[in-house]
Amino acid sequence: MDLQLAGKSCLITGASRGIGWGTAKIMADEGCRVALVARREQLLNELADEIAGAGHERPVVIAEDVTRQGAPEQIRERAYAAFGGLDILVNSAGGSRPIPWDAPVDVWHEGMTLNFEMLRQLTHQFIPGMRERKYGRVINITGSSEPRGVNVANAAKGAVHMWAKGLSRIVAADGVTVNSLPPGRINSEQILERLHPDPEERERFAKSEIPAGYFGEPEDMGYLIAFLCSPRARYITGEVIHVDGGMHKFAL
Ligand SMILES: NC(=O)c1ccc[n+]([C@@H]2O[C@H](COP(=O)([O-])OP(=O)(O)OC[C@H]3O[C@@H](n4cnc5c(N)ncnc54)[C@H](OP(=O)(O)O)[C@@H]3O)[C@@H](O)[C@H]2O)c1
Repeated sequence: MDLQLAGKSCLITGASRGIGWGTAKIMADEGCRVALVARREQLLNELADEIAGAGHERPVVIAEDVTRQGAPEQIRERAYAAFGGLDILVNSAGGSRPIPWDAPVDVWHEGMTLNFEMLRQLTHQFIPGMRERKYGRVINITGSSEPRGVNVANAAKGAVHMWAKGLSRIVAADGVTVNSLPPGRINSEQILERLHPDPEERERFAKSEIPAGYFGEPEDMGYLIAFLCSPRARYITGEVIHVDGGMHKFAL
C-alpha cells in the first residue's frame, strides 16, 4: 500500500531517543520531510546524518526544551521557515514520573507541564495552519490509563486523551485528525535505563504482564503512526489505540 506520505512535512518531538527516534526513521523512509525536536542536539544531528545517509533529505534539527516558555512558538517558526507549513505533528517528548502520592506541587507541575501542557501548547501552534491547508495529523504518544501507583504521567496522559478527543471533533471537518497512542512497554532510553534496567526483571515482567511475552520496539509504534498520518487514515480520529502486546486489561 502506498501511504501517500511523500513530500509531507512532519515534526517529531522527543526524536533523540526511543519512540520518537524510531518514528523519525520510518517517516523519512516513507518520503516525509522531517524536523527533529529534543534537547540533546548531538543525538539529533547523529539521527539526521543517519537519515541523510540512507538517501533522504536531511532532517531539520531543532534543539529545544519543549517545557521552556516560548518554545512552542519558536518551534513553529523554525518548522514553517523550513517547510512553509506543517502536515504532521508527532508529540513524543515526555516521560514517566512515578512519585509518592503526597509529592510537592513543583513535582506535579513539572510532570504535567512536560506530559500535557506543553504538548497542548505546541499542538495549538500548528492547528490553525493545518485547518487552512485542509490536512493535518496530530499523534500523541501517551500512556497507560491503568495506574500501578501514583505517577504524574498517568494523570497527564489521561488529560491528553480527553483533550485530544475534544479537539478531534472541532477540527475533523477540516481534514485534521488527532489520535493518541498509549505504549505498553517499548524498548527506549527510559525503559532500558530507568524503569526496567535489569534484564532478568524485564524478562519476568514481560512473561507475567504482557500477553505477547516481550517488550516492543519503537518501530512497533512507528508503523502505526505512519499509517495514521497517511491520507489513507482520514476516517480515524479521536481514538486511543494501545500498542502494548495485549498488556492493558480493560476494554477502554
Ligand atoms: N517506552 C514506553 O514503553 C512508554 C510507555 C508509556 C509511555 N511512553 C511515552 O512515550 C513517549 C516517548 O517515550 P520513550 O519511552 O521513547 O522515551 P525516551 O527513550 O526516554 O525518550 C524521551 C524523549 O523525550 C525527549 N524529551 C524529554 N524531555 C524533553 C524536554 N523537556 N524537551 C524536549 N524533549 C524532551 C528526550 O530527548 P532529550 O532528553 O534529548 O531532550 C527523548 O528524545 C513519552 O511521552 C513517554 O511518556 C513510553
